[in-house]
Order: sequence, then C-alpha cells, then structure tokens
Amino acid sequence: MSKTTKIELPAPHAAQRQVLDEAKRFNVLACGRRWGKSTLGVDRIVRPTLEGFPTAWFSPTYKMLLEAWREIQEVLAPIITSRNNAEYRLECRGGGSITMFSLDGDVSDTVRGRAFKAVVVDEAAVVKQLRSVWENAVRPTLADHRGEAWFLSTPRGLNDFKAFWDRGQDPERDDWASWQMPTSTNPHIAADEIEAARQDMTEAAFNQEFLAQFVNWEGAVFRKVLEAATAERKDGPEAGHEYAIGADWGRSNDYTVFTVVDVTARAMVDMDRSNRVDYVVQRGRLQALYDRWHPSKIIAETNSIGEPIIEELQRAGLPVQPFNTTNASKAGIIEALALAFEQGSIAILNDPVLLGELQAFAAEQLPGGMLRYAAPGGQHDDCVMSLALSWSFIRHELPYGLTTYLSGLQDEIDAARLKATAERLAFGPGLRKINPEGEKRPTGACPNCEGTIIQLVVSGKRCATCGTQFDEPGAVILADIPGNTRATMGRRGA
Ligand SMILES: Nc1ncnc2c1ncn2[C@@H]1O[C@H](COP(=O)(O)OP(=O)(O)O)[C@@H](O)[C@H]1O
Ligand SMILES: [Mg+2]
Repeated sequence: MSKTTKIELPAPHAAQRQVLDEAKRFNVLACGRRWGKSTLGVDRIVRPTLEGFPTAWFSPTYKMLLEAWREIQEVLAPIITSRNNAEYRLECRGGGSITMFSLDGDVSDTVRGRAFKAVVVDEAAVVKQLRSVWENAVRPTLADHRGEAWFLSTPRGLNDFKAFWDRGQDPERDDWASWQMPTSTNPHIAADEIEAARQDMTEAAFNQEFLAQFVNWEGAVFRKVLEAATAERKDGPEAGHEYAIGADWGRSNDYTVFTVVDVTARAMVDMDRSNRVDYVVQRGRLQALYDRWHPSKIIAETNSIGEPIIEELQRAGLPVQPFNTTNASKAGIIEALALAFEQGSIAILNDPVLLGELQAFAAEQLPGGMLRYAAPGGQHDDCVMSLALSWSFIRHELPYGLTTYLSGLQDEIDAARLKATAERLAFGPGLRKINPEGEKRPTGACPNCEGTIIQLVVSGKRCATCGTQFDEPGAVILADIPGNTRATMGRRGA
C-alpha cells in the first residue's frame, strides 16, 4: 500500500532557481546575509534523503549545528522514523538519513568510513582550515555514491572559502561551480532593511556582508583622515555642549594620551600626550583635564593600569568608565571610528602625530577570520586608541559591525537565533515553519476570532490564535513512499 506524505519546502526564489539550474557536483555559493543559503541547503539535502540516501550537514560551530538540527527536524517531521540525539542523525522513511556535524572540533574520526550522497557545509567561510577539513574528512565521504557538495557562506575576507569559490570560476575545473549573490536578490528581504544596514557599516563591511564580495581586510583602516582634520583646539567647554574623554595609558616605552571630544559638535577639541611620566603625574594631568572640561564620561583603558587605579579615580569623583581591551573590543571601537571618518561625521585636530598614527594604522586578518588592528611594526597607536575610546562614548556599538559578527558576540547572535527557533517550535500545533520576519510583522486581525494573522514562509497567512488559513501555501514536495522502497517526489508551485 502506498501512502502519500507531504513535506513543505519554500519554492526557490529566482536567484536560488538560477543556482539550482547551474549546479555542478561541487558548488560554492558566496551570498549576502539572509540571502537564503540555509534554506537552499535544506532543499538540497532533503531531496537525496527522500530518495533513500544518507546525507550530511556540516555547521562551523556547535551552536549553529543545534539550530540547523531543529530546523531540519521541523521540515522532515512527517517522514522521520527515528532520531539519534547523541549523533544528530535522523532516519527517514524510504531508508534515507541525515547526519549533522559541527566543525569546531576534529571531525575526521567521526566521519571516517561514512558515505554520503550529498553534503552541505553551511557558513563555510567561518570554518577554520576549510581546505584541510574538506580534503581529509568530507571529500572522502562522497566517493561511494559520487555525492555532491554545497559550500554556502557569506564571504569572510580572502580565506579558504575564497579559494574554493575561485575553483568554481575556473573553466578547467568542470565539476566545480560558484556564484556571488547579494542579499538584495532574496525577494523576501525588504530593500529598506538592507539600506538601513548600509548606513551603519563601513563600505567594506557592507560589500562583504550584503554584496557578498571578497574584501581584502589587510591594510589601511582609516579613510579620508586629512579631510577630517578641521577641528580647532579649544581652551574650555562651550555652554550647552557635552564632552567625553578617552584615556589610553602608556606602558614603559609608549605614550599616555587623553583625548577630549565635544560630543555635541562631534569634534575633537583637546589632546594631552605625555611620555615616561609616572602614574601620579598622569593622574594629575587627567584631573586637570577633568576640571577644565567637566566631561560626562572618561572612558579609560584598564588593562595597562589595573582595576584598583580605576577605582581610586572613581573614588576621587571622576566619572571613569573602564574599558577592557581585547582583540574584539578593540576592533569594535576602531570600526566605529573608521565609520565616522568614512561618513565624514567626525572632526579631528590637525595634529601631525595623530594624523600619522591614523594613516599608518592597519588591519591584519588572523587565520580564523578575525581582524587584528594595530600600528604596523613597532609604531605607536596611543593617539588612535585614545581617540577611539573617546569616540566610543558617541558611537558605542555598530549594530551591523563586522566585529559584532566575527567576535565573541557571535555567541549572543547564536543564542538569539536558538531562542527564536525554540519560540517557533513552541508556537502551536500544525505550525511547522514560521518566517521569523513575518512573526515580527503581524499582517492584521483575524475576522473569525480577532487573533493576529501572521505571515508564514511555507504555509501562507494564518491566524496565530485559531489557525484559520487565509491564502495559498507555498511549494510542497509530495513524496510517495510505497512501503520501504525509495520515495518519488514532485514539486508544486515552484
Ligand atoms: N525561497 C524562499 N522562499 C521564502 N522565503 C525564503 C526563501 N529563501 C529564503 N527565505 C527566507 O529568507 C530569510 C533568510 O533565509 P536563510 O536561509 O536563513 O538565509 P541565510 O542562510 O542566507 O542567512 C529567512 O526568513 C527565510 O525563511
Ligand atoms: Mg544561514
């Protein structure tokens, strides 16, 4: 007896369709954020699974794996016959299976001896040592079934993912294909959201994150520095203006720099730079600056002088806010400052030492993709750091900053996404896949029960309270699964 089972997958949008049409055995997709990479990846993996084959999904981190694990279960719910929570494996009707792995540890042992018909490597540019992971662990699993591979990612500088993408452009490599797709080619993402992101990012970050370009992050960080050197040194505060001071303390062979910015005018108004003075003298100079400017905040680097000294300053009545410098926290304030220069929203003093430091200041990309910002080879960056600390009072965080994405804050992003997925799962019976965007934007009141109508990706509009359906569901894969033989399938509405 044959039984029909439905699995709902969104109909591919035009750009996804193009990719599917042009696909080869090994496929490298460089896309902007929220283009629909993971959605496409799920589509690619579900098909061979329905045909009875073993398939695999690789995520760069364990947290990303958990999210994908939940999402795939939502999609496949009707055909899952057993689930192995320890190994992240789903067995499906018809004999197919999906096994999921995270690539933050060594996977070569766990995948040895396995054979897959299709594999997806999601956010592949985030995978450390992608090339060796591919060659030593993933590629061998595709030999038995002549399996296919999908590398899906937003670019991250010029790393292994870029090298894979290049293979797809090389006419000599017949079995590789690659594409570059900006976020704007996903019709389900509002254009004004992309524009809003552009306002809050440096051009290079936007080019990478939304245009899917391979940006070379190495080299100069601050642009239009000379154009910004228009501010005048002032002697004291202007009525009605607010001020902030950034404090970068010198160590044995560098300088202590205090920078005063006029928060209201977005301009630097004073800078105090001194070398080889002991802490008591430095504290006296800071106190003098405080007495002159009465800033709302003094943002002071703590690593070099330590908490007790910060506490002492606070006890003396100075509004000191400690700043702990890490690679990530430094990158955050530097990128905010770089954006200010790029947008022409900051004016600085025409000070030769400051200008020289700003122009020399450079980024270096670490193997994991993170950026390290510093003055090149033995030069100083005290003026830059002090200015960045003071500016952090004005622009403390870039909502779409590259660093936010690259740094430890990735954990927060992952947690938020996990929470959203959990909420979606808990939403109610019969509601399997809800567009998170739609969830945020209710589309009206239900005429039956006055509940909220929400937009669902695959199931159209539906009342969140009584479940009444208001328009046509999206595409559906129909899988006819006779007994335990292979499923056949068709697509509707594509
Ligand atoms: N073909 C499609 N039809 C409907 N919605 C889609 C489609 N592809 C992607 N989306 C939606 O676009 C958003 C981003 O998709 P996602 O796959 O998470 O992107 P990425 O992995 O590139 O960040 C999600 O809300 C997703 O549901
Ligand atoms: Mg994704």
